[in-house]
Amino acid sequence: MDIARTPSTPDGNFEMADAATEPREPALIRREDYRPFPWLVPQVSLAFRLGLEKTRVKSALTVNRNARADHSSTIRLNGDGLTPLEVTVDGEAINSWSLDGGDLMLTLAGDSHLIEIVTEIDPSANSQLMGLYASGGMLCTQCEAEGFRRITFFPDRPDVLSTYKVRMEGPRDAFPVLLSNGNCVARGEADDGTHWADWHDPWPKPSYLFALVAGDLVANRDTFITMSGRKVDLAIWVREGDLERTAHAMDSLKNSMKWDEEAFGREYDLDTFNIVAVSDFNMGAMENKGLNVFNTKYVLADRETATDGDYDAIEGVIGHEYFHNWSGNRVTCRDWFQLSLKEGFTVLRDQLFSADMGSAPVKRIEDVRILRSAQFPEDSGPLAHPIRPDSYREISNFYTATVYNKGAEVIRMMRTLAGPERFREGTDLYFERHDGEAATCEDFVRAIEDGAGLDLKQFRRWYEQAGTPKVSLRLEHQGDTATLHLEQTVPPTPGQPDKQPVPIPLRLALFDRKTGRHDGEQLVTLTETRQSFSFSGFSQPPVLSVNRGFSAPVSIERETAPEDLVFLAANDDDAFARYEAMQDLVVGHLRGLLSGSIGKAERGEGREAIGRAFAAVLADDSLDDLMRGELLILPGESYLAEQMLIADPAAIHAERESLKAWLGSTLEGEFAAVHERASAVESGNSPEAKGARKVKTQALVYLAAGAPERSAAMAAAQYDAADNMTDRQGALMVLTGLAGPERTHKLIDFYNRFRGNALVVDKWFALQSSSLHPQVLEHVKALAEHPDFTLKNPNRVRSLYMPFTGTARGFHAESGEGYRMIADLILALDPINPQTAARFVSPLGRWRRIEPVRAALLRAELERIAAAPGLSRDTHEQVSRSLG
Ligand code: ARG
Ligand code: ZN
Repeated sequence: MDIARTPSTPDGNFEMADAATEPREPALIRREDYRPFPWLVPQVSLAFRLGLEKTRVKSALTVNRNARADHSSTIRLNGDGLTPLEVTVDGEAINSWSLDGGDLMLTLAGDSHLIEIVTEIDPSANSQLMGLYASGGMLCTQCEAEGFRRITFFPDRPDVLSTYKVRMEGPRDAFPVLLSNGNCVARGEADDGTHWADWHDPWPKPSYLFALVAGDLVANRDTFITMSGRKVDLAIWVREGDLERTAHAMDSLKNSMKWDEEAFGREYDLDTFNIVAVSDFNMGAMENKGLNVFNTKYVLADRETATDGDYDAIEGVIGHEYFHNWSGNRVTCRDWFQLSLKEGFTVLRDQLFSADMGSAPVKRIEDVRILRSAQFPEDSGPLAHPIRPDSYREISNFYTATVYNKGAEVIRMMRTLAGPERFREGTDLYFERHDGEAATCEDFVRAIEDGAGLDLKQFRRWYEQAGTPKVSLRLEHQGDTATLHLEQTVPPTPGQPDKQPVPIPLRLALFDRKTGRHDGEQLVTLTETRQSFSFSGFSQPPVLSVNRGFSAPVSIERETAPEDLVFLAANDDDAFARYEAMQDLVVGHLRGLLSGSIGKAERGEGREAIGRAFAAVLADDSLDDLMRGELLILPGESYLAEQMLIADPAAIHAERESLKAWLGSTLEGEFAAVHERASAVESGNSPEAKGARKVKTQALVYLAAGAPERSAAMAAAQYDAADNMTDRQGALMVLTGLAGPERTHKLIDFYNRFRGNALVVDKWFALQSSSLHPQVLEHVKALAEHPDFTLKNPNRVRSLYMPFTGTARGFHAESGEGYRMIADLILALDPINPQTAARFVSPLGRWRRIEPVRAALLRAELERIAAAPGLSRDTHEQVSRSLG
């Protein structure tokens, strides 16, 4: 055995002590500074002696000089909070190492060496949930992006690919199940109550894809036969008692595997595929090679406890992580600036998968709604960044709607430009060219260019520039010709004052207003700042349907007569365009009222037009209820705020609620009739039943605003009759926003019925913290004292506070108390879980776009956080960018 080193000798400790007393600005990491790592690490072998409080890790790395990099005789092995207990090189204990920050620096004399290092960690003390941590008695890992360095010293960067051998050893009673990446090649028992397992992953991978799980788990097992006839053993591992709720996840997994073969020609490449559900998890899930680790939220479902939305989300996330096996694992990222290479592409893949599994038009609308409510505000605020960022201080802050969802939209545009078949040739070429490599976004674009035969020279600006392009348009009619005048601007964003025009593919159709038809859809691509396109054969001015299917992630500014929007809402054969016409109708009306360009006296006219469109949607027999439900959704408050230069959240809320109430009372009979019809639909998993559930609760929502007493009675009845969570949660949501005894009764009933089921208790918190109730702020304050509340569990924290940040009366309360509450949360959570704490900064960062009184309150809270001592790198970066 080598001699253990105490941590007091290396000079690195001085630096650590310094950093604690004298805070330094964390280093800015720049994309342009990328250099290949001077060493290759072809093989890694890890031996774990597992314990909840003490896990000993012995790693053995074979390292070879990298001929394709500038040589350095020192090797930097990243570490975060680790102490090297033993270090040997080629079997000899050495003392010449040092620590730089947390990193271990070794000097190597030759071209090839074997480095062995022993570290010890305390998983039970790991509240950040990065690296190896304990969750409800089990051990699990999260390594992306930089968690592996919290387990052992290693070049923790995605361009260092190694094959891993893992020995896991631990007490059999505490950890009967031992899992890691790849295949289990041997296992055995010892006399002292311990057992062990050896895992071998044949596919070279970066450290962020390493995973290990040890615990008392049971599996839902199944098999999948791949396109070439290989049998894969599938297992979804959960706690005893949760097994009955894994069927949907298993179906989703098998569907994903099949779909990737058919849609992208991608076959699975190991003999086993394991999924583990973990209740303490910072994100949704993680695509570790052969061992995906999931937040329980995206695995467990049954009709009693999960909504239709939960079912869809599970299918989407299971697909997403599975698809990463190719877009992420077989082809990985060279550095973290390339994150959208795997995330944008994989989100697109999961969107296409879900579209094929259910209703494609409805899926498209949902995806656009997410983009607009989460990504558009990011792109117009202080945290705006390109889908391929140029710099960061903490990479965890860049797992954003921009990198993920806008990234997907950018790749979707390439697909629109090429057409699906040629796009597929592009992705085939990409996988073929870069299999086994750590690639860049540039590699992807080039493969699509070569494989699909596109010129994407100008298109690359979508990777470089932040900000949502605005396209303003005007349709002119003369003689028999309609001319479309287009103009684009890409707004300035932090660090990018001047922008270049980007190519914007717009699918459009021109409708004859008499026949209600068009002569086929066209694709025009706006490449210049200003451009016009002419269409002949129109004796009358046509009605323009543009950006159909949301072909480009831009915001369209146009003056369209409400009657044209009513026409499109009723007649457009593109479902998204129909939805968009409804949205535009409402946005135009509310924006006009809020900005004063429409007088209050003319409010009635606008409402009448909206009311007619709603009545038509409610009566239209050609619509299925899933689509009807989409058309009935009012634009959200955050999307409305985006439409205003300076937003007054209280005014937006009041005006939107007032429209809702008007619709609810004007169409009371129609909504009640829809509710009655939908309530009679037999429950189950069919699209009809799902659609019925969707419109049923929507009817209650409008009635709650327009006829609250009637709605409360109907909601209570829906709650009592519910045999599924969708109906029950929908009814309870409506009741939670209303006053009256049913609110209290049903909230108590819900809690008692589901106490002990963490995911449903999360819903109970979220329902109250997102509610329209005027006392939402007091409710959240009280819930923070509830015995079930804890800052240690990210799902619980998010369910109490994330929905709250969307409430006009709570978060945006004029007193500033809502802002203070979120700032207090950030300060309390930051020392426990910085990654999750930093996620709460962006709601505070909107101050530049909010009226002056609230803007000052927001700024004051950001400044208060910034002044706090010992802030994490995560929160520090977000707060300073937000103030910047
Ligand atoms: N790659 C994962 C996914 O998209 C996300 C993991 C991010 N984890 C983190 N700690 N930032 O599926
Ligand atoms: Zn992903």
